[in-house]
Amino acid sequence: MLILQTVNELKEWVRDTKKAGDSIGLVPTMGFLHEGHLSLVKKAKAENDKVVMSIFVNPAQFGPNEDFDRYPRDLKRDQELAEGAGTDVIFAPSVEEMYPRESQIQLTAGAQADVLCGAKRPGHFDGVLKVVTKLFHLVEADLAYFGQKDAQQLAIIESLVEDYNFPMAIRRGETVREADGLAKSSRNVYLSGAERNEAPHLKKALEMGKELVLKGQDPIEPMTKYLTNHTSGVIDYIELLDYPTLTTTIRQNAILALAVKFEKARLIDNIIFHPKGN
Ligand code: PAF
Repeated sequence: MLILQTVNELKEWVRDTKKAGDSIGLVPTMGFLHEGHLSLVKKAKAENDKVVMSIFVNPAQFGPNEDFDRYPRDLKRDQELAEGAGTDVIFAPSVEEMYPRESQIQLTAGAQADVLCGAKRPGHFDGVLKVVTKLFHLVEADLAYFGQKDAQQLAIIESLVEDYNFPMAIRRGETVREADGLAKSSRNVYLSGAERNEAPHLKKALEMGKELVLKGQDPIEPMTKYLTNHTSGVIDYIELLDYPTLTTTIRQNAILALAVKFEKARLIDNIIFHPKGN
């Protein structure tokens, strides 16, 4: 496995790889890898000749009071895990390498960013669009892989690729969970022991909410009560929307999504399902 840290090294590798006729799958990450990331690498390995994983904690997507500085980082551990899952190249640039000057052009997410995390984290998805646009151009990937745990991010990136004709396709990866239902996340390490024991109730609340939706009932209030009774966290949002449009009129699939703030970790989770139960 190669570890590349500069744009020039990456471009050279991409040029050689394309010349050899090999397809490239990209798995963008912020590191501190867990099985969710590794399942994306395995999917990418099965569908492409070469797999590039980017590891870059992107300052552009963190708000001023968010956890950029204390976001967990462990490149050595990440290298071992990435290689074990079949990654061919890790691209791990510095902030200066990725953003050598202040951008003169800004990318802004549309209405899909007005709900859920986008409503709570102003500018977050603009920062995600900024970094993935650069990564897509640098890596010239045929396919790029994103997990469904970050369902809003996935929907917005699919819009970017569709609206601006990026010559590539996005692949969705299922949310990977712990045995007790907690969605895997790099931020789970922030949970205290007591919070970790409460955290599986997020998935339980979603399952309960889904059953109510299938019965034609409004899930928000019962889910709010359930989470308030079973966790010490503060509910940031619980929303039921159409997926992937993220509008309030459910036409295709429904997404039931929530965010709960614990002492040091803000956890998100969701389930996507057909509102008629098919
Ligand atoms: O999902 C993440 O880890 C990040 O938002 C991403 C897509 C790697 C962009 O920095």
